[in-house]
Amino acid sequence: MTSTFTIAIDGPAGAGKGTLARRLADHYRLNLLDTGLTYRAVAYALIQHALPLDNVSAAETAARQVDLAKLDRAVLSAHAVGEAASKVAVFPTVRRILVEKQRAFAMTPPGAVLDGRDIGTVVCPDADIKLYVTASAEVRAKRRLAEIESIGGTANFTEILADIVRRDERDMGRADSPLKPAADAHLLDTSEMAIEAAFLAAMAIIDEVMAKRNKA
Ligand code: DC
Repeated sequence: MTSTFTIAIDGPAGAGKGTLARRLADHYRLNLLDTGLTYRAVAYALIQHALPLDNVSAAETAARQVDLAKLDRAVLSAHAVGEAASKVAVFPTVRRILVEKQRAFAMTPPGAVLDGRDIGTVVCPDADIKLYVTASAEVRAKRRLAEIESIGGTANFTEILADIVRRDERDMGRADSPLKPAADAHLLDTSEMAIEAAFLAAMAIIDEVMAKRNKA
């Protein structure tokens, strides 16, 4: 049997889990999947066809067509697509189709870092490492504003904060696979921690688990 190593990273929008996931995948030479992009791809397909976001059968069809090798971050990263993704992500049948693809990805050697909302709880409950990355809504809104301004855009802090709070409520409040830390997740609060410090903290946790595993 070929063994794989899985790192599950969950947390709310804007907590820094994407950057952390990329750093960890590079460092440990693992595959990387931003599962948010899979929900975004479904939402994007509906938007492109001018279909309502509550058209479940169209969302299921779009979910079946999602190809993990062809997720285009540049196209899918638009703010409106993230909002729409959070809406299509409430449908259990859509989730089941995407989760199956995500699990197959995780099981491909040498293993993977996956980030999302339900990785440690639903997609990879047996992950070797589970991290729950969070930060206060205000800090996340400030970071988002700085990001927009750094590329020459303008935005309103109060509106961004309201958006973040609304998205948290939807992602944490849905009946199927709500965002919550797995019982065995390590919590990383990045409110007062730079991403480099979060990376070092995560590495310390992972190295300890790897050392124990190599001894066993
Ligand atoms: O991480 P993101 O902002 O790209 O995710 C977009 C939306 O997709 C998020 O608000 C909820 C949904 N999502 C989910 O339900 N489960 C995941 N594992 C990843 C994302």
